[in-house]
Amino acid sequence: MIKRILKKIVNQFYIVEKVYKVDLKDKYTIDNAYDYLVMDISQINLMFEEHKTEVDYSDVLKQRIEDHNFRTFAIKKGNSFCGFFNIAFDTCYDNITGYYFNKDNKDNIHLFHDYTFKKWRGKGVHKASIIYRMQYGIKNNKKSATTAIVKNNIASEKSYLSCGFKHVESLIALKFFKIKIKLIKRAI
Ligand SMILES: CC(C)(COP(=O)(O)OP(=O)(O)OC[C@H]1O[C@@H](n2cnc3c(N)ncnc32)[C@H](O)[C@@H]1OP(=O)(O)O)[C@@H](O)C(=O)NCCC(=O)NCCS
Repeated sequence: MIKRILKKIVNQFYIVEKVYKVDLKDKYTIDNAYDYLVMDISQINLMFEEHKTEVDYSDVLKQRIEDHNFRTFAIKKGNSFCGFFNIAFDTCYDNITGYYFNKDNKDNIHLFHDYTFKKWRGKGVHKASIIYRMQYGIKNNKKSATTAIVKNNIASEKSYLSCGFKHVESLIALKFFKIKIKLIKRAI
């Protein structure tokens, strides 16, 4: 019990993120069980109106749609929003570890801020979003895709691995409130 509490405290300050990467080579088969849409302000309002008791990222997502570097997608089934998922086309700051993605590689897309609403989890929504974004990357002439997953986020890891992503490096940082100290960018 004490060990578990100590581990939780340490994990607040000591962050390990695993970076996964895939080469975008082929056409991918989009899961037609769902609808996919690029978000605008009115869709963001509708989505968080539907899920207001769960989370509200509307301000963050609205800021993002004004920036051409980013694209936010939602997955829908009928009238219900199942989740939202993001792509960065250019330099992307990771506010968990303080590292940057796409800085030296403009042929890469970075997939980040993935969220499936609770009632839709375990139904393949996340996997569908990854395949959809990989295909979107190909359409935009990108050669590879990356993502960063906080260690032990098993559900997220499983989705990315099953879409062909491979673990390529680990990022380690110390986080003390808003201060982030990058310790190691460890290639594996
Ligand atoms: C991680 C998350 C996006 C997964 O979404 P999801 O739509 O439920 O995922 P999927 O249904 O597409 O499942 C993908 C895989 O993960 C597995 N999985 C899903 N939830 C799981 C869980 N709680 N534990 C273990 N495996 C799980 C599925 O079985 C599936 O694996 P399979 O292909 O081997 O069958 C969702 O749990 C979530 O939004 N979590 C909170 C935010 C978060 O952690 N985002 C990711 C940050 S990188």
